Amino acid sequence: MKFFIDTANIDEIREINDWGVICGVTTNPSLIAKEGRDFKEVIKEITSIVDGPISAEVISLKSEGMIKEARELSKIHPNIVVKIPMIKEGLKAVKVLKSEGIKTNVTLVFSPSQALLAARAGASYVSPFIGRMDDISNEGMNIVRDIAEIYRNYDIKAEIIAASIRHPIHVVEAAKAGADIATIPYKVFLNMVKHPMTDLGIQRFLKDWEGLVKK
Ligand code: E4P
Repeated sequence: MKFFIDTANIDEIREINDWGVICGVTTNPSLIAKEGRDFKEVIKEITSIVDGPISAEVISLKSEGMIKEARELSKIHPNIVVKIPMIKEGLKAVKVLKSEGIKTNVTLVFSPSQALLAARAGASYVSPFIGRMDDISNEGMNIVRDIAEIYRNYDIKAEIIAASIRHPIHVVEAAKAGADIATIPYKVFLNMVKHPMTDLGIQRFLKDWEGLVKK
């Protein structure tokens, strides 16, 4: 399973990119709004840091508007993937954009049937939202598992991005469920690195080493 970072914060992207573990970035209107900067400027800066798919989301709810926004966004950099919401108008837009060679990431996916429609319309990526399903007392990971099985059955090439990841266990479960990619917030990356036994191990090694040096 590959890792993307789910943020529009440049410092967070730079740091995790320096770890060598990410190959893409996802943003959404809420994440962009948090940065308080010009949308296109932020996206452009991200493309200069990470050499991989960078998802930028449209705002329009009509297919014509989505297509117009998508064409503009795709001019920013060849790595731009346009995020399209999982609605009827979104599917229409995905179909047209696919015919123009513009990659799409269908977002706000909450069921396997939505994921199947998105893939058939021509999406390159589909993003089931795990955490938001868990929030309403549903087992979010079951959606990833079902989508992976269905895509396998029909050799569907769309990649599954496990989104709305809240903690390291979500990442592990997404990998076991067959997600192609997990898009992970900065704080979850930090929690994935940490283990008290690692810290304790380092302390012991250094203590023993000091003992040898003193002899
Ligand atoms: C996916 O691409 C979205 O940006 C994201 O994962 C949304 O997650 P949230 O539920 O933490 O807002």
